[in-house]
Amino acid sequence: MKDVFKIGVIGCGDISTRNYVPNIMDRFRNMEIYALCDLNRERAESLAAAHGIAHVLSLDEIFEDPEIDVILNLTNPQVHYELNMRALRSGKHVYSEKPLGLNLKEASDTIALAKEKNLYVGCAPDVFLGAGVQTCRKVIEDGLIGDILSAKVANMYHGPENIHPAPDFFYKIGAGPMLDIGPYGISEMLYFMGPAEELCCYGGIGINPRPIKDHYTDVEVNTHYNGIVKFADGRCASVNFSWDTWGAENGPCVQVYGTKGSLFLSDPDNYGEGSRVHVLLEEDMRDENGKISREKTSHSGEYKKDIPLVFDCPTENRGLGLCEMIEAIKEGRPSRANGEFACHVTEVLDGFNIAIATGKPYKMQTTFQQISRMPEDFVSKMR
Ligand SMILES: NC(=O)c1ccc[n+]([C@@H]2O[C@H](COP(=O)([O-])OP(=O)(O)OC[C@H]3O[C@@H](n4cnc5c(N)ncnc54)[C@H](O)[C@@H]3O)[C@@H](O)[C@H]2O)c1
Repeated sequence: MKDVFKIGVIGCGDISTRNYVPNIMDRFRNMEIYALCDLNRERAESLAAAHGIAHVLSLDEIFEDPEIDVILNLTNPQVHYELNMRALRSGKHVYSEKPLGLNLKEASDTIALAKEKNLYVGCAPDVFLGAGVQTCRKVIEDGLIGDILSAKVANMYHGPENIHPAPDFFYKIGAGPMLDIGPYGISEMLYFMGPAEELCCYGGIGINPRPIKDHYTDVEVNTHYNGIVKFADGRCASVNFSWDTWGAENGPCVQVYGTKGSLFLSDPDNYGEGSRVHVLLEEDMRDENGKISREKTSHSGEYKKDIPLVFDCPTENRGLGLCEMIEAIKEGRPSRANGEFACHVTEVLDGFNIAIATGKPYKMQTTFQQISRMPEDFVSKMR
């Protein structure tokens, strides 16, 4: 098996230019970018020139080129399914930006085709492979916060329209807070708690049409969600996402509550920087006589402890999941940010929309195999 895999990138927009292409060129020694492709050829050409990438190809050419091992799909969500399926039909492994599909059918068709062709599918977000989430998982596995009872995922703010050069797509089918930011916290929650069994959710569209910079855009997707996930073993988690709230003091966060303490991850979309994982432990709530202190419990925030991260990981490390998938292909084992997991995540995201539309609980159809922790030296070995 070859040591360095050749990547064909489709989509040379914001995330490709800002994160993936520089990261792959600089950080991950098991892959190289062989070719770029974009509907806007000039965009691909200028990115290729900036990084000395040899080939700019059309869509037909990139799928047919026998040199390419993996298609990295960084296009808009509406075309992920079509392009991922085409890549698999042309015999290439796929790593896709999130979501894997706009609904369960698209995601499950994709993993079924990969299985039939004996190819790998991986999917963002891969943030759960970063040092912050990995540290949380170790805290849980080590039993520091006791038996896990429940969890909370939240991300509530006033929309992403001021941070992207062309933001209208955030309010169209395929995006909204559930499909756009939901994959981060939801993946992490599932990574901690296991497969979901049933969901319920209330929500809707808060502001329509939506003022964006110098114009208004029609909103096609729900913009606030108040949901609950029930897991197979009966435990629950609450999920709150919104792009309609000003300064809600509710995230971004993933929190896990155990019998002996609570775990706080301050930013689900972060690979690991400084001390951003905290715990609050029952033992720190006791006074000198060993009794739970009312004074301490009413100021519990002051007793949170930083947990040192289990490994060093650059804050922004997009592409880590693809890097890990390539090692999995070489070793003939399942990858971690894998298609089965992404399919379950997609069903949860879509399930919340179905629950809002029907006003009834949504019963999950898919599941996933437990995903183990990352080796703590993985990131440093791949540099
Ligand atoms: N921008 C971010 O901050 C960010 C962060 C995390 C994940 N993502 C995800 O990354 C993906 C891309 O987001 P973005 O912000 O870079 O979008 P973008 O609109 O900036 O870029 C998408 C690019 O894909 C190209 N494209 C679309 N359809 C194509 C096709 N059929 N063939 C070839 N090229 C095609 C477009 O021309 C464009 O250059 C989305 O799935 C998004 O959810 C984005």
